[in-house]
Amino acid sequence: MIPESLRQAAEAVLRRNDRGKFTAPSPRQYPHLWLWDAGFAALGWAALGDYERAYREIRAALRGQWRNGMLPHVVFYDWPSAYFPGADVWRSDLAPEAPTELPTSGITQPPVLAFVVEILTRYDPDRGRAAAFRREAFPALYAYHRWLHTARDPEGMGLSVLVHPWESGMDNSPLWDAALARVPVGDLPPYRRADARWVPEEQRPRSADYDRFLALILHLRSHRYGESGVRASPFRVYDVLFNALRHRSEEALLAMATALGEPTGEIEGWLAQGRAAFQAYLWDPERRFFLDWDAVAAARIPVIAAGGFVALYAGLATPEQAHEMVARDLTNPEAFAPDGGTRYLVPTVSKAEPGWEPRRYWRGPIWINLNALIAHGLRRYGFTELAEQIRADTFALVARSGFWEYYDPRTGEGLGIGDFTWSAALLLAWDLLEIPETR
Ligand code: DGY
Repeated sequence: MIPESLRQAAEAVLRRNDRGKFTAPSPRQYPHLWLWDAGFAALGWAALGDYERAYREIRAALRGQWRNGMLPHVVFYDWPSAYFPGADVWRSDLAPEAPTELPTSGITQPPVLAFVVEILTRYDPDRGRAAAFRREAFPALYAYHRWLHTARDPEGMGLSVLVHPWESGMDNSPLWDAALARVPVGDLPPYRRADARWVPEEQRPRSADYDRFLALILHLRSHRYGESGVRASPFRVYDVLFNALRHRSEEALLAMATALGEPTGEIEGWLAQGRAAFQAYLWDPERRFFLDWDAVAAARIPVIAAGGFVALYAGLATPEQAHEMVARDLTNPEAFAPDGGTRYLVPTVSKAEPGWEPRRYWRGPIWINLNALIAHGLRRYGFTELAEQIRADTFALVARSGFWEYYDPRTGEGLGIGDFTWSAALLLAWDLLEIPETR
């Protein structure tokens, strides 16, 4: 149960950030629709009992869908704004597959929508409305996952490749340091970042990262966001968090297809491929952890990041692998667990990583979405006490500091932008994320 004062405060954040058509992650810092943020926001609306509003959020995200199936990571509702890089940089109008009436970015973000829709339609008390929405959303979600398995699996790995760190959602994680360092910056046009206006610069990505973020956009744009740009991208990574969420979403897609009486064979094939690929390419038998695969370097990325634990949310670890990751890393004070220096679970990367920075965006702070996914993954494998510990830590962070974008794991101080939508939404919707089989 969520304490009433926190519930009210969380609801107030959602209502303040509600733009009607969509919920801004933060009206100042992120004034448009972001893909995985929209999924988490929808869960928050459902937890408040407003399923109509939750469905509207999903519809707003799906309206940005490209004709090839891609769901873009930003849909530029309410454009123009001060956000950088805006629609004028992305230029989705150059892509033959982009919607003509609505500007979007040209890359995607972690695929959470299918499992979110499955949750919404499982809990909606109006069963007729739930069935109708499932029928409405299913084709678009299916088309998105088919795109993830075709356009984004050029090497036939059974995994989806990312061509920009923003596709991982973990923009400046130490995971990308070596891969980004190889990205040629070339002659970038002069540009001005807008992200450090409301957030101290030392909590945001570095300028060298931004140069590469922009260079990668320009590369993809020069290929009109087509498949040639994917194949020629200087950044090509198979990420554990992204692919685990893809798998969890495909479990949900299978449940929806079954409920709708649709064929299930292709989805079952995707699930089998994903399971095999996680074991063949992402499990590192020496480090005993799921590691990202860098396709340009043809090597695993030797960085222990919290996204690895999200493999448990998708049921992709064997019970032995789950036990090893928990014993060796999650409960180890030299890696993720609290010690004299840190007080809360789960820092974004292991404290043992040389790139760990406890206050800088995705390089060490705690994020509420990862905490929720990790806690429910632990429950899936029977680690109920540890799951409860993460829940208690998360609620303590919010009670102490409010609904921040991320938190310093040493002090619990809120960092980034305040009144952040998914921090509020996921506190409300924490229990909705539970995997049905663990009940
Ligand atoms: C940002 O602008 O920081 C976003 O995370 C990119 O999508």
